[in-house]
Amino acid sequence: MTLVFPKESLSAFPKHLTPDYRSTIKRSPLKPLIIVPHTLSELTGPVYGHDAVQEGDADLTRQHKGEPLGERIIVHGHVYDEDKRPQADTLVEIWQANACGRYVHNVDQHPAPLDPNFTGAGRAKTDETGYYKFVTVKPGPYPWGNHYNAWRPSHIHFSLFGPAFISRLVTQMYFPGDPLFPFDPIFNSVADKRARDRMISSFDLEATIPEWALAFRFDVALRGRNQTPMES
Ligand SMILES: [Fe+2]
Repeated sequence: MTLVFPKESLSAFPKHLTPDYRSTIKRSPLKPLIIVPHTLSELTGPVYGHDAVQEGDADLTRQHKGEPLGERIIVHGHVYDEDKRPQADTLVEIWQANACGRYVHNVDQHPAPLDPNFTGAGRAKTDETGYYKFVTVKPGPYPWGNHYNAWRPSHIHFSLFGPAFISRLVTQMYFPGDPLFPFDPIFNSVADKRARDRMISSFDLEATIPEWALAFRFDVALRGRNQTPMES
């Protein structure tokens, strides 16, 4: 039993080995990949555990006593499959640096302040139209030591779980007009320009809340079709 995905599904992804992005040199496989058939548990839906996603989980500015510093923003959009059909009940998880470009993580020791009111992680579930929405602060760029004077463009990490484990997508959302795009090997490891552009959110004036927050729209297409697995 297997699912048949359109061949183009994989063409948007970065190559495993992208030497300019130095850590891919050690991470990428040296031998051809072995095809392992999917099992039933991969073709059926994931189970998220005991704690249901709460509405407040999608507001990263309300997880502590006070509000975090930085530019408050709304990040929202729809999750579709490749045929533009809305994907309901998709788990959307995000993590990000604070407004100064610092993560709450032991490995991140770059000399920018931590914010006691910001952890930088949230989650949401799409509604029946595939829609999700987060409130957060705009993350700052940060240095990452890949090469001389290497800075990541501002970005938010996304993980999405569609109707099956094999439709999981991990990606990064960028902000329009970032001057660091041409210099970032991670962003440019996606060879196809149209695919790169799909990682850039769009400024969404309609969804902006006056006197309160700017908004950015980020629609995501998950690989695969929400169909009964076919015997082939
Ligand atoms: Fe990051």
